[in-house]
Amino acid sequence: MVSIRFLDGLRTGHSQIDDSHRIIIDILNDISLAAEAGNTARCRELMIVFSEVCELHFAAEEMVLNSARFPGAEEHAQFHRQLLGRVRGFLGHFLDGADIFEIRDGLEELAGLIIDDVVKGDLSFRSYLIEKGLATP
Ligand SMILES: [Fe+2]
Ligand SMILES: [Fe+2]
Repeated sequence: MVSIRFLDGLRTGHSQIDDSHRIIIDILNDISLAAEAGNTARCRELMIVFSEVCELHFAAEEMVLNSARFPGAEEHAQFHRQLLGRVRGFLGHFLDGADIFEIRDGLEELAGLIIDDVVKGDLSFRSYLIEKGLATP
């Protein structure tokens, strides 16, 4: 079972970005609970929401980085496109009728993607935003 906690080390210090990371993690934990309960219909609903929330989050984060003129903004946007491709790939496979065991396995992968890539990847612009006064240390 996947259970992620939003630890302090994952904070970017930008309140809007941190709030949406918390929401993404909450949805992922909810999918995991639904998967544990064997509720595939609920997993499906939440998986669609997860994919949409990730998409909106990436777009909002890119706007923050672009308006702050973060030098790595384009590279980070490219990174988001890759992540979104993986999230959508998982969603597509899932909607095609993956069974509950595949969903549970896939969730582990998705959780790793969110933690190692989405949240930690964002720590690369943390100090830049703090320097610009857009995030709090
Ligand atoms: Fe992010
Ligand atoms: Fe990001």
